[in-house]
Amino acid sequence: MVKTQFSSRLGFVLTAAGSAVGLGNIWGFPTQAAQHGGGAFLLLYLLLVFALAYPALVAEMAIGRRGHQEPIADLGSLAGGLGRLTGVLGLLAVSAILSFYLIIAGWLLGYMGDAVLKLLGLDWPWLTHFSLGRNLVLGSLFGLLTWYVVQRGLQEGIEKWSRRLMPALLVVLVVLACYVLTLPGGSEGLTAYLTPDPQKLKDPGLWLAATGQAFFSLSIGVCVMMVYASYLDRDASLPRLGLQVTLIDSGIAFLAGLLVLPAMYVAKAQGLQILDAKGQLISSDTLVFDLFPRLFDSLGAAGQLLSLGFFLLLTVAALTSTLSMLEVPTASLVARTGSSRRQASGLVLGAVLVLMALICWQFSWLFGLVVKVVTQYAQPLLGLMFCLFVGWLWRRDGLLKALAEEDKAFASSWFWRLWPSYVKLVCPLLILLVMIQSA
Ligand code: PHE
Repeated sequence: MVKTQFSSRLGFVLTAAGSAVGLGNIWGFPTQAAQHGGGAFLLLYLLLVFALAYPALVAEMAIGRRGHQEPIADLGSLAGGLGRLTGVLGLLAVSAILSFYLIIAGWLLGYMGDAVLKLLGLDWPWLTHFSLGRNLVLGSLFGLLTWYVVQRGLQEGIEKWSRRLMPALLVVLVVLACYVLTLPGGSEGLTAYLTPDPQKLKDPGLWLAATGQAFFSLSIGVCVMMVYASYLDRDASLPRLGLQVTLIDSGIAFLAGLLVLPAMYVAKAQGLQILDAKGQLISSDTLVFDLFPRLFDSLGAAGQLLSLGFFLLLTVAALTSTLSMLEVPTASLVARTGSSRRQASGLVLGAVLVLMALICWQFSWLFGLVVKVVTQYAQPLLGLMFCLFVGWLWRRDGLLKALAEEDKAFASSWFWRLWPSYVKLVCPLLILLVMIQSA
């Protein structure tokens, strides 16, 4: 069988950045920044991204490129039975993320449809009202869209769509941010976002939250970056490509702050309430599916266009992420059973939709539980295992040789002097700290 490969390095960067840039960037990061000290949180986040998440990303990518197969075999060849178990857990975790991500992505489709209908003077409340039926139908629809792209293959499906969608995402984001900044209240939001409040940095919980956010945002710990890196040729420079992905991911998160925070203060200027009962800025689903729709409604026809653009932006960001999530178990199934990509991705989607239906049915307690278990516990724990495998089980000389061969200039840089001890000691210890604190 011909080994699956990206058509170019740019293809890899846009596809991996597509996975990284998602709901975590567009609403997770900006609202956290606003709640936790604005510019100070931004600096802390960037520090953690580059000093901690980026080295872990390179470790995960290195495992995939070394093994060049699929996660269970790649991890197994490095760490035996424990490695294979970690691989299986990674596949389960990514499937669980996909199952709850699809529910939210389905809501995005609903709100996008609602904006189109309103522009045409029509109204269909089913699209935006919480119901079991709506959650199931729209979530499954998003799942089918994801499946349609994934079953077409890496180059013809995932890479092609990511190449198209990522630049489109950037354009929509910049246009929306520029427009919102001109509205009354916009500049107040900008100040709230960027003014540093260093006092807030004294809270250790904040450091831990920022670490979790960095890992989620870079899609680390669930084998996505491992699988994508296994589709790279042997002489591609992992530190360089990983850095490009990290820069795009944090760049988009920063830009999203220039849209979301000003939009919240525009809502305030319209007389809407932007603080919750505890006096904190509204975040999570109340922000995106309650405050913003009311803001858009209050802005007339321009508001409906803004609404369409905003939900389109989130839909695109979500799609390039769900593609990567479906790809991981699919790649494993194809490699291990020899089944076709079409069949394998269909099977995985079927299983994920069953889990999604279960979460929809028991939404009130199960949704939050799955999100918490997977993102706060499974992701950091698996990321920790990857770092330990690379740091302790991969012989240092072999590791350095494998990675340095790819890029002579990088080989002599400070990166290689620091990185091995980082993934061996610093990353695992800090991840452990996150785990203990959030327990
Ligand atoms: N990085 C994505 C986001 O920011 C989420 C994600 C996590 C995607 C894990 C793939 C794997 O929303």
